[in-house]
Amino acid sequence: MSKKFCTFLNNCITFHYHGISLCHEPKREYNFFPYEKNYLEKFLDERQKAIEDMQNGIYKTECEKCIHLKDFDGENPTQKIKKIELFNWSQCNCACFYCSNRNDTKLKIYTSRNQKGVIDVLPVLERLQKQDLLDESLHISSGGGEPTILKEYPKILKFVIKHKYRIDVLTNGILYEKYIGKAMQVNQESKIILSLDCGNRELFKKIKGVDKFNDVIKNLSKYVKDSQSPYQIIVKYIILKGVNDTKEDIDNWIETCKGIGIKSYMPSIEFCHQMNKILNSEIDPHIAEMYNYAKQKIKESSPDFYLQTHDFLEEAMNKIKTA
Ligand SMILES: C[S@@+](CC[C@H](N)C(=O)[O-])C[C@H]1O[C@@H](n2cnc3c(N)ncnc32)[C@H](O)[C@@H]1O
Repeated sequence: MSKKFCTFLNNCITFHYHGISLCHEPKREYNFFPYEKNYLEKFLDERQKAIEDMQNGIYKTECEKCIHLKDFDGENPTQKIKKIELFNWSQCNCACFYCSNRNDTKLKIYTSRNQKGVIDVLPVLERLQKQDLLDESLHISSGGGEPTILKEYPKILKFVIKHKYRIDVLTNGILYEKYIGKAMQVNQESKIILSLDCGNRELFKKIKGVDKFNDVIKNLSKYVKDSQSPYQIIVKYIILKGVNDTKEDIDNWIETCKGIGIKSYMPSIEFCHQMNKILNSEIDPHIAEMYNYAKQKIKESSPDFYLQTHDFLEEAMNKIKTA
């Protein structure tokens, strides 16, 4: 039987709203551990068992087509954790109407920091650290709901800073968190990814449901100053039909960002609620045109600008062009 290993099982942990997962596809119930008593012990035991089974050529049939399943020869691959995804809450201090979490959140807006109903992750990180399970290249990605409203978040950041781990922070920027700046200083791979989606207060209010545009711009400027390099801050623009889909809207976004020193730009489209359509390249022609316009405009605006894109979206767009 051929020996296999799974890059996710061996090297990643994902904390979701409802549990911790051995697999990148958390909907598969068999690998999902709800946050009940001793969930971490159960998870680590199952993980060890699954790794050993794979080494003996035993794995689920669903795994056969998975990109994470790899052949190996020679030494057993490392079991140290290289990636941790923190998506274990959905609370947010704004309500983007296109939000991928809207079924969970019902677009409720939280106005103060809290940890209600959310597990503490720091004790788990500390325990994994103590057991020498964390790889020195560890990359944490955080952004379930809004990370900066979690009471525990500054403590998680202090842990990350202490060990100089990489953290990617998906934030709306409504609140400023000084330890995010410090995390970007100790590890230049660390990033902020912020979906601004507009360049003015009125449009912001319409998209995000809160009147916080000025706070976000102020906080973004502070993060630019905090960072080692402005390229550590990526600002996104989700093009939404009939809302922010004109050339003028896009120009305004780029000008506003340019004015505060942003150099990494990521145009995107709403994809969480229409992934199948996008994979079939069924993209609204106007949205596709504006997406290409945004890319072009970013390239032309300054030789210093860096254009970031999603591979799957590029593939879908290219298929439309040649269709
Ligand atoms: C769900 S948010 C959570 C983190 C944080 N509160 C924030 O605002 O970035 C994470 C990211 O998902 C993206 N996102 C959410 N819903 C989306 C959708 N329907 N289509 C495409 N991207 C979406 C947002 O642009 C944001 O960058």
